[in-house]
Amino acid sequence: MPHLRPFVAAVVRPIPITTREERIAELDRAGHNPFSIRADKVSIDLLSDSGTGAVSVDQQAWSQRADERYAGAESYYRFQDAVRDLVPYQHVLPVHQGRAAERVLFGALLEPGQISLSNMHFDTTRADVELLGAEARDLPSAEAFDLSSDEPFKGNIDVDAVKGVLDGPDGHRVGQILVTITNNGVGGHPVSMSNLAEISAVAREHGVPLILDAARFAENAWLVTRREPGYPDWSPRDVARRAFELADGAVASLKKDGLSHDAAFLAERLHAAGVQTVRPTALNAVYVNAGTLLPHLKPQELPDQALSCALYREGGIRCSGGSLFMGVFDENNELVVAPPFELVRLALPRRVYDRSHWSTSPRSWPALPKTPNRSPATA
Ligand code: F0G
Repeated sequence: MPHLRPFVAAVVRPIPITTREERIAELDRAGHNPFSIRADKVSIDLLSDSGTGAVSVDQQAWSQRADERYAGAESYYRFQDAVRDLVPYQHVLPVHQGRAAERVLFGALLEPGQISLSNMHFDTTRADVELLGAEARDLPSAEAFDLSSDEPFKGNIDVDAVKGVLDGPDGHRVGQILVTITNNGVGGHPVSMSNLAEISAVAREHGVPLILDAARFAENAWLVTRREPGYPDWSPRDVARRAFELADGAVASLKKDGLSHDAAFLAERLHAAGVQTVRPTALNAVYVNAGTLLPHLKPQELPDQALSCALYREGGIRCSGGSLFMGVFDENNELVVAPPFELVRLALPRRVYDRSHWSTSPRSWPALPKTPNRSPATA
C-alpha cells in the first residue's frame, strides 16, 4: 500500500521533456560533466538533496518575515534560540552555507601541516582543510567497505585507527577529529552513539577538538532511535542533543535534513531491475554500485561518471559519482589512486518527486509539446 503524502502541491514547476538527441548534444556541450548540464534540460534532477526541497507555506511565510537589519536582527535571535535548544556551544555563528562554516571554524582550528582525521571528509570539507595547508585523512570503519552487508552503522569512524595516529609519530600534528553525521561520502550511513562516545573519550584524552559535520544530524538521530540498542525510547531530538554534547563544536549545512522520504521504495525498484545499491539504504539518497554494474570499465575509465552520463542520456536523470573526490588524480588529471568503490548517488530532493517519477520509463513520458510550455509567459 502506498503511504499517504501528508501534503498537497500548491505551486508546481513543469518537468522539461527532452529527446535523446537533445540530451546527447547537451552532454557534449557540458563536457560530460553532470554539474555543467543546464537544469532546464534535466527531467529528474537527483544531483543533490541540498537546498532542493519544496518549501512549505510556513517556510514561505517566515521568509517574508525575515529581518534583514544589519545587527541584532530578530531573525538572528530566533535562529540562535532554535540552535541553542540543541547544542551546548557558547558561540553560534550563522553563515550562508556549510562550506563557509568550514572555512570559519577550520581556519580557527587548523594550522598548515596539521591533520584532520575523519570518518570521511565531504568534498568541500576536504578542500577547505587542504586550502589551509592541512591534510584531510579519512578513517572510515572497515564495515563501510562491504557495500552489501546490512551492518546498521557503517558511517562510524575507525576509533582504533584514530588512536593509532594519535599515539604514533604524527600524533602531535592532529588538529581536529571531524565526524560527519550521516556519512555522505560512504553511502549516507549513520554513526552510532556508542561510536561517538568512544571517539569523544579518545579526543578528550588527547586534548584534540572533536567537531561534528552535522549536515544531516536529524537523519542520523532518527536512524539511531531505529537501529541502536538502548535508544528506541529516545526522541530524535534528545539523541541529537546528546551527540552535540559529546563533541566540542559543529559545522552544519542546514540546507538538507529534517524531512524523510521513501528512498527505500526507489531502492526496491532498482533491486527488482537487477541493480545493486549500497545497503542498508540511506535516507537522503540511494547509492548505486557502478563498479559492479559496469564491470567492463576500469577505475581509470570512471564507471560512476559513465553511469551518471548514461542515466542522463537515456532517461534525462541527473546525478553524480564520487570517484572525482574520493580518487587521487595527478597533475594531468589521470587517476593514480582508485577510489575504494565507484558509487553513483541518486540524491532525493525532499517533497519534490513522488512514486510516479520512480515508476515510469522515458518511453511512457508525454510527447514533447509542439510549443514548449516552459517560460512563465507561456505557462
Ligand atoms: N558537509 C556535508 C556532509 C555535506 O553533504 C555538504 C554538502 C557540506 C558539508 C557542505 O555544505 O553545500 O551548504 O556548503 N553537501 C551537498 C550534497 C552539496 O549534495 O551532498 P554546503
